[in-house]
Amino acid sequence: MSEKLPVLLLNGPNLNTLGTRQPEIYGSESLDDVVALATATAAEHGFAVDARQTNHEGEMLEWIQQSRGQVSGIVINPGAWTHTSIALRDALVIPEVPVIEVHISNVHSREEFRHRSYVSPIASGVIAGFGIRGYEFALRRIIDLVG
Ligand code: DQA
Repeated sequence: MSEKLPVLLLNGPNLNTLGTRQPEIYGSESLDDVVALATATAAEHGFAVDARQTNHEGEMLEWIQQSRGQVSGIVINPGAWTHTSIALRDALVIPEVPVIEVHISNVHSREEFRHRSYVSPIASGVIAGFGIRGYEFALRRIIDLVG
């Protein structure tokens, strides 16, 4: 379809339960809905999306390491690892591609422990509080950067 490298769309722990998990915070759309939205957005610009979710941090780190040279950019919702994982932040610079950090909820209006992100300092941009539309905006931005 296209010779452009895909965008890697990563979702971290508990995001497989989107739609049923605290819908008053995260909404009623599922992770499948997120992937469909991201895929359609990227396709408008001739990009494919490689979408993955895991509850295992080591698996996430390996996917990121292996993506070097294979992807044009990374859109990631790191879930709670945002606030805890230096290893994730270190991994995300390995592919040397733009990274956009997405949060469905507005983490800054929530508990204090959600205000710190280990990922934001190495991200090209951060989106929070736009619901799953944030993934669409992140896809558009990463395509602006790499397209
Ligand atoms: C989240 C916010 C995080 O604080 C939380 O741990 C999540 C989801 C969000 O999308 O709003 O799992 O990343």
